[in-house]
Amino acid sequence: MCGIVGYIGTQQACPILLKGLRRLEYRGYDSAGVSMISSTGELNVFKSKGKVDDLESFLEDKDVTGTIGIAHTRWATHGVPCRENAHPHFSSTGTLSLIHNGIIENYASIKERLKEKGYTFVSETDTEVLVQLIEYYKIKYNSDLLSAVQRALSQVIGAYAIAVLDKNNPDEIIAARKASPLAIGLGDGEYFLASDATPIVEYTKKLIYVEDNEIAIINRHSGVNIITIQGKEVSHEVSEVNLDLGAIEKGGYEHFMLKEIFEQPECLLNCMRGRINDEGTDIRFSSIIDYGQRFINARRLVIVACGTSWHAGLIGKSLIENFCRIPVEVAYASEFRYSNPVISEEDVVIAISQSGETADTLAAIELARSKGAFVYGIVNSVGSSIARNTHTGSYIHVGPEIGVASTKAFTGQVTVLSMLALCIAKERNTITQEQLQEALQELLRIPDKIREVLKQNDTIASLSRTFTYAHNFIYLGRGYNYPVALEGALKLKEISYIHAEGYPAAEMKHGPIALIDAEMPVVVVATNKALYEKILSNIQEIKARQGRVIAVVVKGDDTISKLVDYVIELPETVEFLYPLLASIPLQLLAYHIAVCKGKNVDQPRNLAKSVTVE
Ligand code: F6R
Repeated sequence: MCGIVGYIGTQQACPILLKGLRRLEYRGYDSAGVSMISSTGELNVFKSKGKVDDLESFLEDKDVTGTIGIAHTRWATHGVPCRENAHPHFSSTGTLSLIHNGIIENYASIKERLKEKGYTFVSETDTEVLVQLIEYYKIKYNSDLLSAVQRALSQVIGAYAIAVLDKNNPDEIIAARKASPLAIGLGDGEYFLASDATPIVEYTKKLIYVEDNEIAIINRHSGVNIITIQGKEVSHEVSEVNLDLGAIEKGGYEHFMLKEIFEQPECLLNCMRGRINDEGTDIRFSSIIDYGQRFINARRLVIVACGTSWHAGLIGKSLIENFCRIPVEVAYASEFRYSNPVISEEDVVIAISQSGETADTLAAIELARSKGAFVYGIVNSVGSSIARNTHTGSYIHVGPEIGVASTKAFTGQVTVLSMLALCIAKERNTITQEQLQEALQELLRIPDKIREVLKQNDTIASLSRTFTYAHNFIYLGRGYNYPVALEGALKLKEISYIHAEGYPAAEMKHGPIALIDAEMPVVVVATNKALYEKILSNIQEIKARQGRVIAVVVKGDDTISKLVDYVIELPETVEFLYPLLASIPLQLLAYHIAVCKGKNVDQPRNLAKSVTVE
């Protein structure tokens, strides 16, 4: 969703801001803009609908000088994507400019009050209301920008990360945060701010994460000072960010998504490193060592997440229930937060999130904590809000995921959930040492087995061409593979805009079978040993109605292979690890179909990587 960048220092701000916006493109956006205080003291705002490239062309004949500036990519919430609604927004007198990520929920009532006082508005956004409110207080109390921002923010309900420039003070940026991410980079005589570390790491590894209800005063001469909205000074640890620049670039691949699919063997090795010993005889999770009793004594576990992370959560439920014999519920964070859930101190809540910034998941965590639950985070983005707001947790260590469609984060989450289940099972004695060893050793073999699956990329690319013109797809799976079917369908709809639905295979006859005809491609994940005959019957039912079946099978499966139209083979593994293998061809299938259709694979329409609003 919206991305924020800011710079103050000795260099020209505009090139740094534009580069920063490009680094944030992956978050999803529909318009972009910059604001600088020029070398002659003008406060300029330039913005355009479309991509950062469009903005850059628009800037060609403009005065883009200045060593202080802010910039923004907008993902429309209030008002259509257009130049007027793009950020930065000017205040009425043109002395302030502001960028904002989040939603001001009470903007309508504030707007009415300001209109009564004679203010006019040029956009439909909630953000313009905020900059006008700040200016209103600045004029009314004849105050500096900081006091006006404090007054305005104490009136505001909602979520925000903001940055404000004042034409009359070219040495300072005021920034603030509530429930939307904001990081400040500390350079040598220069300062950066951004929604995440990606625009900053090129210049400095030293970061401060601004917390909720805090305001940062970033001054060219005196550096960074942080206070609460009420004005209390706060001190912050400076974090050292270990983010390799190569990890946020395409590295020779046509798209980030393809790069991230191919990175998975390495990512999963990183995820297991230091947790499973090399011999595969033991597993250690520092968080489980420290908080083992919470898991051992848990009455039940509740997993909260959204989208792909929720699909990983469904696999987590099967893993934990099978290995640990603890009941697990999986809830959409957006439903959980408003469902008045029955949660107590005896429950453990596991929050799963790639970005660590998803607004609904953060709210679910807050609610669970307020009811006394112990909250464990499974997060990719280091230092993110969810990582900081949970009691403890595990990073999945798959590196930055830039493609909007989640791939390596999903398999990273499933890997952590597998290890977590085995670790808790070990602590609860619900697994024998022999079973544990067998499971760990097979887990260690998974990266190599994924490499084998990836060798079928060309085959999957050519079969994808056949399905480019399909309007619908069905994905089927059972047991551990049912969430894989859901995830396969989600990948396809997100990036190719083909309607797709995932079902437990046996549910097909309760409705979806009515959709089957010669036009309907059905992807069947058919690796289950225990339910093999049943899946076979499901496939026969589809073939009897002329459906076209793409089957994902275990290597050497001649029976299903003879029956279906296309086959993708997986190396053999144990039942609970098939999701890690079976999800790979489904990612590739979605990717190649979307490429054949000429879609923007890394930045699909309407989608945002970090869903920081409700
Ligand atoms: C799908 C996808 C989304 C996210 C969802 C939650 O490819 O990426 O469905 O999984 O928005 O995001 P996180 O995991 O960042 O909380």
